[in-house]
Amino acid sequence: ANGYELLRDYSKGFRIGAATNTIHYSNSNYNNAMKAFNYMVAENACKFVSIQGTKGKFNFNDCDNHLKKAQELGMDFRGHALVWHSMAPKWLENEDANTMKNSIINHITTVLKHYEGKIDTWDVVNEAIDDSSNGNGWNMRKSFLYNKVPNFIDIAFQTARQVSPKTKLFYNDYNTEGIWGKSESVYQFVADLKKRNIPIDGVGIQYHVSLENNPRFDKINDLISRYCKLGVEVHITEMDVSCDKNCWASDVEQQQGKVFTNALQACLNNSCCTGFLVWGIGDNDSWIGGDKKGLLFNSNYQPKSQYTAVLNLLKST
Ligand code: G3I
Repeated sequence: ANGYELLRDYSKGFRIGAATNTIHYSNSNYNNAMKAFNYMVAENACKFVSIQGTKGKFNFNDCDNHLKKAQELGMDFRGHALVWHSMAPKWLENEDANTMKNSIINHITTVLKHYEGKIDTWDVVNEAIDDSSNGNGWNMRKSFLYNKVPNFIDIAFQTARQVSPKTKLFYNDYNTEGIWGKSESVYQFVADLKKRNIPIDGVGIQYHVSLENNPRFDKINDLISRYCKLGVEVHITEMDVSCDKNCWASDVEQQQGKVFTNALQACLNNSCCTGFLVWGIGDNDSWIGGDKKGLLFNSNYQPKSQYTAVLNLLKST
């Protein structure tokens, strides 16, 4: 008994999740808070450098430990992420084009085979569209991946489909909430993948926003419904809502709660939106820093008013 109601008990089959990290598993309050969810993603453990820090030496321990915890708690598990320019090993960056291409294929193949039947959804490519994209076409991020293997995205999705035909293959990116510059560009990019028959099944909308910089609030429903029409699934994958300058306002948690429920409502409105995850459990563990109070639990892993807002929405749905 957690002393509060669990989101998962009102999710009616919908996947409601959080990013977790084994470094906190020894904390019993953290463990209890994890139980609120029915879906888990590893904050870092299943990334390229975490699994293959040394070329050819695959170390699945930490990623496996996250998955094990999810299974113990009866949670589904989301794979994040196979190919990303960040959290990539130095050895990969230093390879020549053809070797790098083969390393990408080998990584995807080995990881998907290891988790076959255990992880049904993976972010295959993460954050490949450049922030300068303004909705008029798209600019590729000029990462080491793109610079050496310009078609790495096609290769990644095609490899993943071939190795594991049943796995749902996602593209995941930030600043893609609502309808505006970069998110419009990402939409066009995904539509182009579909048009060219590159096997993509879903789009992850990360949803890292703040109260001050949240211009996309009104448009998230339209964006998701547009993706549904395109024939892809949507997950909101990494939500947090920073408070920025208004952190001490008396109603700040209520304001943040509204941003969470606005996004979750948009997801629930659209049947192709099949998962919603926040990026961490307690505020102090968050990548944006505890002072931003961006998550659903406080630093002692007690639910905040944002949690109750999300809970009430699920209850009323
Ligand atoms: O593992 C090394 C450790 O060996 C080293 O001693 C230490 C010194 O800095 O760094 C450790 O790596 C850190 C890693 O987290 C694991 O703790 C990195 O420095 C740190 O940059 C990394 O941050 C993670 C970041 O992704 C990596 O870019 C954050 O925890 C994680 O929350 C964040 O998550 C990303 C999503 O994957 C993609 N979308 C954006 C989101 C937030 O940035």
